[in-house]
Amino acid sequence: MNVKQPIIIDCDPGIDDSLALMLALNSPELDILGITVVCGNVPAQIGAQNVFKILEFTGHENIPVFLGSQTPLQKPYIDAMDTHGKDGFGEFEYFCKQKKTPKPDAVEFILETLNSIPKLSIIALGPLTNIAQAIRIDPNAFSHLDRFVSMGGNFRSHGNCSPVAEYNYWCDPLAAKEVFSFFEQKADASYPKIEMVGLDVTRKILLTPNYLEYMKRLNLEIGSFVENLTRFYIDFHWNVEHLIGCVINDPLAVAHFLCPKLCSGIEAFTDIAVEGICEGQSVVDSMNFYKKPSNSLVLTYVDTKHFWSLFFSRLLHISESIILLDGGSL
Ligand code: RIB
Ligand code: CA
Repeated sequence: MNVKQPIIIDCDPGIDDSLALMLALNSPELDILGITVVCGNVPAQIGAQNVFKILEFTGHENIPVFLGSQTPLQKPYIDAMDTHGKDGFGEFEYFCKQKKTPKPDAVEFILETLNSIPKLSIIALGPLTNIAQAIRIDPNAFSHLDRFVSMGGNFRSHGNCSPVAEYNYWCDPLAAKEVFSFFEQKADASYPKIEMVGLDVTRKILLTPNYLEYMKRLNLEIGSFVENLTRFYIDFHWNVEHLIGCVINDPLAVAHFLCPKLCSGIEAFTDIAVEGICEGQSVVDSMNFYKKPSNSLVLTYVDTKHFWSLFFSRLLHISESIILLDGGSL
């Protein structure tokens, strides 16, 4: 019997965060000790309400939700409601049966849990404000961290907030810089690296109308929920990039955590630009110009069929064996 992996998910739900939570909540390998919310796609209070919606829909209301940073460390807060809707849930009117209130102080929860649970891992799906604040307060709490997965950044792929910057690191560049700098200071053979799940791989994960139709055929209730949740996001992708479908970034970070064989990449020193035209850019030193210790594993390849097989089987509660990806219906 495999031991469940204790994790905290830090997120800014957000449509793709919500899908990532659905994947994590349907994965028995994970022991989700708590979900912490950070300001990002939407203000943290709104994001917390979206977490409650997902916990109720998936039947995991017992998992505690904590409210985190309401603003970035230094940069004025810029949301992504244009992408995720004013409610951060694609303006899909899903109402929880009862009003829930998040527990206060996500950063305190992160530190308490790091100090009490050996081999804790963190999956960060939003700006790194909560994580940076936790490091500022008690860096030693991260001494026994098992893994740290961050959806964010980009290596060779263009940005989505500027020509060179991805939203999570662009929204709070100072937080991202401080987190990458911390992992640089800790860098040695035994300490984990930031597993950076950036746009280079997440852009390959395109949820299409065909996939949505397939999901509804296999499980009408869940497929319809996902279709309603992503409609706004699909419209955004058509209006901005003339893409049919929507790039679901955050579920890949969870899938990578569950199955490290899914993706591959390079170990490198990475730093984050915090000002000027390149603000928020993740600068990946793949050629080791700076001769600095590598603090990150930057993912550059993803086995998309394997991802969809895992994603569909977990969200729809079906065996991977009946997912038809090779020449079948997908
Ligand atoms: O750039 C994409 C990332 O920013 C995703 O995590 C999305 O949810 C937003 O947080
Ligand atoms: Ca996110």
